[in-house]
Amino acid sequence: MSKNYKIHHHSYDVIVVGAGGAGLRATFGMALEGLKTACVTKVFPTRSHTVAAQGGIAGALANMDEDKWQWHFYDTVKGSDWLGDQDAIAYMCREAIPAIIELEHYGMPFSRTEEGKIYQRPFGGMTKEFGEGGQAKRTCAAADRTGHAMLHTLYQQALRHRAEFFIEYFATDLLMGEEGDCRGVMALDLASGELHIFNAQIVVLATGGYGRAWQSCTSAHTCTGDGNGMMLRAGLALQDMEFTQFHPTGIYGSGCLITEGSRGEGGYLTNNEGERFMERYAPSAKDLASRDVVSRSMSIEIREGRGVGSKNDHIHLHLEHLGSDVINQRLPGIAETAKIFSGVDVTKEPIPVIPTVHYNMGGIPTNYHGEVVQLKEGNPDAVVPGLMAIGEAACVSVHGANRLGSNSLLDLVVFGRAAAHRARKIIQPNSKPAPIPQAAIEQALERFARIHHAQGNLSTAEIRDNMQRTMQNHAAVFRTADSLKEGVNKLSDIYQSYERVRVSDKSLNWNSDLVETFELANLLACAQVSITAAENRQESRGAHAHEDYPERDDKQWMKHTLTWLDEQGNVRIDYRPVHDYTGTDEVEYVKPKKRVY
Ligand code: SIN
Repeated sequence: MSKNYKIHHHSYDVIVVGAGGAGLRATFGMALEGLKTACVTKVFPTRSHTVAAQGGIAGALANMDEDKWQWHFYDTVKGSDWLGDQDAIAYMCREAIPAIIELEHYGMPFSRTEEGKIYQRPFGGMTKEFGEGGQAKRTCAAADRTGHAMLHTLYQQALRHRAEFFIEYFATDLLMGEEGDCRGVMALDLASGELHIFNAQIVVLATGGYGRAWQSCTSAHTCTGDGNGMMLRAGLALQDMEFTQFHPTGIYGSGCLITEGSRGEGGYLTNNEGERFMERYAPSAKDLASRDVVSRSMSIEIREGRGVGSKNDHIHLHLEHLGSDVINQRLPGIAETAKIFSGVDVTKEPIPVIPTVHYNMGGIPTNYHGEVVQLKEGNPDAVVPGLMAIGEAACVSVHGANRLGSNSLLDLVVFGRAAAHRARKIIQPNSKPAPIPQAAIEQALERFARIHHAQGNLSTAEIRDNMQRTMQNHAAVFRTADSLKEGVNKLSDIYQSYERVRVSDKSLNWNSDLVETFELANLLACAQVSITAAENRQESRGAHAHEDYPERDDKQWMKHTLTWLDEQGNVRIDYRPVHDYTGTDEVEYVKPKKRVY
């Protein structure tokens, strides 16, 4: 069967898979370094999910108030609930400043202060003076369309530096060498249905998160964990997959994002008694506590019968008091979104909101140069030659157990840029990549043909719906041992049911049935390791709120979870230590303490 496909072969120094913020920054960064680079992307670059990021990008520019990157570092360590690697966090917070100035020089249309500096707004968990100096204004914003502005700026730079693109190509599998190094990737040209084998010295996975494993999420339909799925199929481990961020303010019903910037500009939450309940849960930071804290507080209000609406099942977000000037200038996008998706005029009424899956802290383990690392013969930081990962697909780990808002756009550009610098150091431009073993190509082709010709009795949509419902109910804001166990059992059955999937459309041109079936395989793999890792972690830390183990347990659990998945769907678990050093004498290691806001 696999003999019938038309196959094209290519050779590059670097192939970047994915054209969101991280993928684009890496793509033109690699091109700037003189490396022959192409970006393979399943959507047109400016449609990548980065376009949906609203509130901003964090960096201690000190445009509005005193600020230091060391304070940003402290907040990020605390936000991560001490699961973040402090050397990587120090690198990100220090590099934030040049990376944002660089974006400004590339022409990114930031909002401006009266003096013409980049406008910076308050965001959750961002403070001054190591948590003692009150709220920081650190999040650089282009109104509430920061991701949109960034993505267009980066794409323009990629065109300027003549990076090559393979647009609307879906990457199906990594092609590995006999020594466990990466040699390339296979992709389907969605328009022609022809297959492409990319042989490269380095493959960079910048494929984003897997929010679509849940029923309600702020993620685009394209967020299907494709890079993570490829990793697991290549026999490589993912890290910290139990940590899923719920954004406090997804619109009730549709899940569309209402930026945290709306609370940064002065918005607040109320329950059905009209009470600003965050004052009880986070007396100091209130509505700008970190996201896990706000999401849990909202869930408790709803659970205890203080939710709003006829079913008492959501919360109100108020912006009415901000007035139309602030809303039109700083939050025009969410005013439109709220009107379309909840029928609300934000200048007159509150927006109905609910915690909604937003971000995956876990992903492909890397060092802060973007190189993929694995546990090998006792070495927890063994680099996989030829393979890098950046952006939400990666777990550096700078976000640990909980990401702070506006640290994601930051992570995209800082590590996209770092990967390009590293690549130039470790490979020679225009050298022939090591050849891809024929067996690896055959294996990828056979899998492709098997799915293409799948004749089972279950539709892709049916299996996907079962998975999404299970993840929504069992990998939720609050988790219990019983519910997680039940979730693991259900999900194992759903994972097995993929063997009975049916692809009804056998054509190869623009076959969305086929692509969704490939995406479902990736989602299922992510979901399986996520829920199993969640059941395994018997403590509460960051976004993992385990009701049977309500305390953080640093003695047992201050370690990264590694998960492997075999072909039968069995998950193997091991651990990597958290880096308890900063790698620089410019900032001191932050010792673990109780996390209060
Ligand atoms: C938001 O604007 O609230 C989302 C941005 C982020 O997740 O960092």
